[in-house]
Amino acid sequence: MNVLVTGGAGYIGSHTALSLLEAGHDVVVLDNLCNASQESLRRVEEIADRSLTFIEGDIRDRACLDQLFNEHSIHAVIHFAGLKAVGESVEQPLAYYATNVAGTVTLCQAMQQAGVFRLVFSSSATVYGPDAPVPYQENMPRGRTANPYGTSKSMVEQILEDVVRSDQSWSVALLRYFNPIGAHPSGRLGEDPQGIPNNLMPYIAQVAVGRRESLTIFGNDYATTDGTCIRDYLHVMDLAEGHVSALDRLTLSGAHIYNLGTGQGLSVIQMVEAFERISECSIPYQFAPRREGDLDAFWADSNKADAELGWQARRGLDDMMADTWRWQRQNPNGYRTNINTTSEGTS
Ligand code: NAD
Ligand code: UD1
Repeated sequence: MNVLVTGGAGYIGSHTALSLLEAGHDVVVLDNLCNASQESLRRVEEIADRSLTFIEGDIRDRACLDQLFNEHSIHAVIHFAGLKAVGESVEQPLAYYATNVAGTVTLCQAMQQAGVFRLVFSSSATVYGPDAPVPYQENMPRGRTANPYGTSKSMVEQILEDVVRSDQSWSVALLRYFNPIGAHPSGRLGEDPQGIPNNLMPYIAQVAVGRRESLTIFGNDYATTDGTCIRDYLHVMDLAEGHVSALDRLTLSGAHIYNLGTGQGLSVIQMVEAFERISECSIPYQFAPRREGDLDAFWADSNKADAELGWQARRGLDDMMADTWRWQRQNPNGYRTNINTTSEGTS
């Protein structure tokens, strides 16, 4: 299949582009590089030993999309492009709705005109909302969302369900990710946040490599075994492979929702301890008050993806930690400066 990957230069998109190439698909990436570097794609080609097509452009630019669909015979679209910083979405809601919601509408309009009806969309476990019981199951209703980022994902799910209802030509997979972490085992691809990381694993890795002094753990008074929040962390390569599996499912019309998680919850403290064990680095931390909007504990029921896509997370916690550490150690400044240390640690 010739697959358009929007946002394909980003964290999850680049790993998925690699999985697609390795599965024998052809890949066209559309990315405006607002939160990514083209270096990730150069490395994807190097690892796969195959080339892909890169187009620098914006999903909100209809003329760019029309030209892309005219010039490339696209069979399916995997749509990662979007803005994802929760705090920023509270400060700049219009930017989030313009990119995540209006951008997706523009993409779907261009797809419809081009006669491309197969779409995989990056949704999030955040759409279940704070009142859903754990583990989250796909047949639970979408809940209330705590910020414009979450609302944008919920709105797009609703829009895509309406689109599918209006025209049976469409086949859409709504993939609800839990917490993707880790990196490609080569150490050549990984997560490269700009500025201070919002998310736990990149923060821990930057402490280990000496870019940050210590980790702040938000809240130690949750109703969990050690008082810190519990999440379902999955390896980004498992997540990438989930997209390849979902593509095969796109022969069926309708909107198909899948949780992509491991089904296992781990606390912040357990994550820190696992990273310390694998990296042999000490991660100093202090506790701070709870972060607004955080839920105490959630994880996936991922049986549906197993039953219908034949997908399950195969990589364990030690792989996630070893691969995160290899990536961070070999690329202490991410893609920005290509410093390739071969020593066992720079912290
Ligand atoms: P990322 O920021 O690394 O990747 C997103 C990519 O989209 C970037 O390369 C960015 O340059 C590009 N982009 C942004 N706006 C664009 C636009 N208007 N036109 C073209 N390209 C644009 O993020 P990621 O972690 O790889 O996430 C990918 C998708 O998965 C996002 O939609 C995100 O909301 C969703 N998601 C991520 C997580 C997570 O924990 N990382 C969890 C749930 C859902
Ligand atoms: C967050 C977003 C979620 C988004 C996901 C991926 C919130 C409330 N949720 O998920 O909508 O889909 O990122 O982008 O922002 N933690 C610390 N110290 C840190 C960072 C995190 O203690 O420096 C804790 C958090 O309080 C949380 C856990 O680590 O308990 C995981 O945090 P994070 O990696 O940000 O993921 P989520 O909050 O689950």
